[in-house]
Amino acid sequence: MPTYKNGRAVIDTDGNIMHCHGAGLLEYGGFYYLFGEDRRDRRRVSCYRSKDLVNWEFRNICLTLDSETKRHYVRTDLRLAPKNSGPMTPEEAAAISLQPIGHRGANIERPKVLYCEATGKFVMWMHFENGRDYNAARCAVAVCDTVDGDYVYMGSFNPVGNMSRDCTLFKDDDGTAYFISSARDNADMIVYRLSEDYLTVAEQVKTLWPGQFREAPVVFKEKGKYYMLTSQCTGWAPNQGGWAVAGAMDGRWSSIKPFGNETTFNTQPTAAVKVGGTWVYIGDRWDPSDYLNSTMVYLPIDLENGCAVDWADEVTIEDGRISVSAGDIEDFRIMLPGCSEYLSGDGFNVFTRRLGYADKNLLWLMEEKDGSVLLRHKESGKYLSGDGILTELKDDDRLLWELGDGAEGKLLINRHSGKSMAVFGRRVILADSDDKHFGGFTFVKNY
Ligand code: GLA
Repeated sequence: MPTYKNGRAVIDTDGNIMHCHGAGLLEYGGFYYLFGEDRRDRRRVSCYRSKDLVNWEFRNICLTLDSETKRHYVRTDLRLAPKNSGPMTPEEAAAISLQPIGHRGANIERPKVLYCEATGKFVMWMHFENGRDYNAARCAVAVCDTVDGDYVYMGSFNPVGNMSRDCTLFKDDDGTAYFISSARDNADMIVYRLSEDYLTVAEQVKTLWPGQFREAPVVFKEKGKYYMLTSQCTGWAPNQGGWAVAGAMDGRWSSIKPFGNETTFNTQPTAAVKVGGTWVYIGDRWDPSDYLNSTMVYLPIDLENGCAVDWADEVTIEDGRISVSAGDIEDFRIMLPGCSEYLSGDGFNVFTRRLGYADKNLLWLMEEKDGSVLLRHKESGKYLSGDGILTELKDDDRLLWELGDGAEGKLLINRHSGKSMAVFGRRVILADSDDKHFGGFTFVKNY
């Protein structure tokens, strides 16, 4: 059964780890095509395809720093509009090149592709930065005759003079295409209608939620309504996602309501796809400490209940139907009562820390032993002892814990002393059960 393990690295059909982040999805010719960021070497946009969204076949690096470039008439920025149609001068070529001379080359984020019926071409829109800082805030366009061929880079620009960072594309049923991107240093989300060839902006049609700082837009349509998912702006760190709905792209959009949990299950929106009758949210799970470890998550959206999205370890897609199941994720975080701190360890000491999703030191495993449990610190492989330290496994009842019911969560009662684990300041101590310093811990699955 084609089953997708959320948040795990995907191995493509060649046996390689899939690198396709901030991705956009295009259904074409009986396949799902995924275009996304691949930041290795001079690669920029990778393309994979799949029939089931689970088994992904690598197709091409569609855009690299060495991609062919071609001038592009951008009516929204006169400085980029060529006056003649002759061959480009070296200066013109350098001006639109992905690798402006003298630094490591452009940063390309969130590539999205549409097929343009009017021209028979595939058009990619993306976020362009110069590779040194995030000040360019431009969109860029590339085009290709085939879905997964080598795209020709057409240059970057500020649409209608606006800043343009996180972005997406949406094609309506009548072929009208929209580019949606964060503007004014992410304060506003702007909707642009594209020209008929999808190569440039025809009109700025909407400025959404001014001053509300949204990014990571994803748009889909269901039963005549337009839905937009976005995130807040916290860089690579996850935050609570939001959704909104409208009767028309250029109509009145609702206010933003939350979906998922306070971290959108440690993801940020990147795409949506309809499987059977169900829309599926596709989010990036960024790893800020190692971008290339970032993964992807699929979660079905319950549109009947206000874009409700729940966590699922695994998603199975079969015969055009999607179902969810609990998987083999065993590790969890141990949350302290009444605060957003978690139990952490450094290989010897145990202390508390704020939630950091990429922080592997916050992960624990539970093992059963002699009718009690051992708490194993995943990163170091060591066990929590009643001394408040991590130790190697030994036959010692200080390592054994019993689970009791506390006022706010589970009590961890040490078998050796009969005392309960509590946290005092940032340290772990053992206290009598009626000590006011503890109320129990919450075990939070590592989704
Ligand atoms: C946010 C954006 C990403 C990327 C990072 C960079 O997460 O959504 O596309 O720009 O910030 O910090």
